[in-house]
Amino acid sequence: MKKNILLGVCGGVAAYKSAELVRLLQREGFEVRVMMTAAAARFVGPLTFQALSGHPVATNLLDADQESAMGHIRLARWPDQILIAPATAHFMARIAHGLADDILSAVCLAARVPIRLAPAMNTAMWLNPATQSNRQVLESRGIRLLGPGQGELACGESGEGRMLDPDEIIDRLRETFQTGPLQGQSALVTAGPTREPLDPVRFISNRSSGKMGYALAEALRSAGASVTLVSGPVALPAPPGVELIRVETALQMRDAVMARISQAPPGLFVACAAVADYRPEHAASGKIKKTDANMTLSLTRNPDILTEVAALPPGSRPFCVGFAAETEDIRRLGEEKRRCKGVDLLAANLVGGPQGGFEDNNNALTLLWADGQAELPMMPKRELAAALVSFIEERFFACNPSS
Ligand code: CTP
Repeated sequence: MKKNILLGVCGGVAAYKSAELVRLLQREGFEVRVMMTAAAARFVGPLTFQALSGHPVATNLLDADQESAMGHIRLARWPDQILIAPATAHFMARIAHGLADDILSAVCLAARVPIRLAPAMNTAMWLNPATQSNRQVLESRGIRLLGPGQGELACGESGEGRMLDPDEIIDRLRETFQTGPLQGQSALVTAGPTREPLDPVRFISNRSSGKMGYALAEALRSAGASVTLVSGPVALPAPPGVELIRVETALQMRDAVMARISQAPPGLFVACAAVADYRPEHAASGKIKKTDANMTLSLTRNPDILTEVAALPPGSRPFCVGFAAETEDIRRLGEEKRRCKGVDLLAANLVGGPQGGFEDNNNALTLLWADGQAELPMMPKRELAAALVSFIEERFFACNPSS
């Protein structure tokens, strides 16, 4: 299946590498179109990209000829993904703020497909808190950064900020275009605990290790889905080929999930995170000091992310998989939870016993759906994740026969 990729080129010395990138993308089977900022066109002529891609290059938002050939909204709807390479510090700042005053930023704002940036800039610019805060904003909205790498920079310095080489960029993209039964589907997974701050140094959290959610993200990826993982704080490395968005609190997790869904509704939502059901009503701005008196904490309910996603209208509602941790009677309590949260498939597990549960490497699951149930026996979490993904596939295709 041919995939469309829109390559955006910003003004930086690394722009010359993007010509090679066009060729490599075509070799991977992509149909490539190119858009350039005015500054990029001063580094490499648009004609080079036109000749390589076989399509006119979009350079101007306010050009009547370009708009009548393919306006910026049509251009934003054309690709399956957008790659900005090189992405300058200035460009990152502009899209972090939702500006739309040139063709690249307007298309990024109007697009509902995954956006990837390959940053290229001087080390000090990359490490500047302004750029790092823009990076966080972009990542929290699901925009994935490829690089930057370390090495010699055009300014003569050496350090972090070098645009990845075209073949490294292709490797990173390849990871997102794997084959398998879920190829062409996207999955959004939550994992890990959340931390609910009491003051700048203390928080309320739980024992979730994130192992099950990370294993599920990897298994979904291996089944061909393009996966975004929204994770609370865990001590696990990012699974290969998975877009990782790190959050801390339940509210941040909810915002990251909802932003992702409104940007590009996924086919599957797998809520594996142990989201704190409550947060301290007030997080103190300074460290809370002890006194001789006892202390009472006032907690307020957090939104239920899974319930919120499962209640979305058709069109933006993904197939929803939820988890339930129970200490007893998992079938009855799990079934109640499945109905109450409106999920398509619920995976219930027993916690608090001698084996299985949060920190263990093994687990067993009872699967419940509207007209059936199944048991997955005790096994390592990675194997369990693969078995669960096979089930998810089966139920997903049963509910979405045309997918
Ligand atoms: N969940 C969520 N947002 C919350 C709480 C839970 O998305 N604020 C999701 C979890 O990711 C999981 C399921 O809902 O898929 C578990 O729900 P929950 O009712 O918290 O489960 P238990 O902890 O099993 O329930 P309870 O605390 O009521 O026993």
